[in-house]
Amino acid sequence: MRIDIITCLPKLLESPFADSILKRAQERGLVEIHVHDIREYSTNKHRKIDDYAYGGGAGMVLQIEPIARIIDELKEQRSYDEVIFMTPDGEQFDQNMANEMALKGNLIMLCGHYKGVDERVREHYITKEVSIGDFVISGGELAAAVMTDAVVRLLPGVLNDETSALTDSFQDGLLAPPVYTRPADYKGMKVPEVLLSGHEQKIEDWRFAQAVAKTKARRPDLLKKE
Ligand code: ADE
Repeated sequence: MRIDIITCLPKLLESPFADSILKRAQERGLVEIHVHDIREYSTNKHRKIDDYAYGGGAGMVLQIEPIARIIDELKEQRSYDEVIFMTPDGEQFDQNMANEMALKGNLIMLCGHYKGVDERVREHYITKEVSIGDFVISGGELAAAVMTDAVVRLLPGVLNDETSALTDSFQDGLLAPPVYTRPADYKGMKVPEVLLSGHEQKIEDWRFAQAVAKTKARRPDLLKKE
């Protein structure tokens, strides 16, 4: 898989992919992540990428030309399954969408900005608009990082223990059950007896019951969906 992220704030995307699972995924050749600075594609000598809104109104708008130039150039080099626009008015991102995206080949993500983007980009270049939740952040960069992380960790071979993505919260429609490690007794705070029993079926039943109870208490909407 290859993910190309288009942004006017490339610095914001320097560190999210430079460590841990995302770093390993790139080192193993399971994903390529490329960040493109819109400014580099400006033909203006001042590297200007925005202009006043037609019809007036406060705020500048990102222009179509540099963004179109990047997307056209990328599409000449390879095919893309989706050109995604990160925006608070997009379709809500969730584990199902992450699973779907993990099955795709190459993705482009365009980071929205408080300035807004010329609507013609959305009409003619974007195939999917995605929000990471009902709140507004300062730009699409962190949203693109969130989405990239959620998708890349699902690619085969990225996680060492293949089953661990399957036991993530949401993957079976339930929140994950609690986990414990040594010591079994910390100042009287004890690990549940069943987990020390070595009885696999009992442990599995306990985990399932815990997951259901937690989901009921915190996210009853997930149980209704099932
Ligand atoms: N840009 C600003 N807020 C956002 C959100 N919630 N999701 C995606 N992109 C955004």
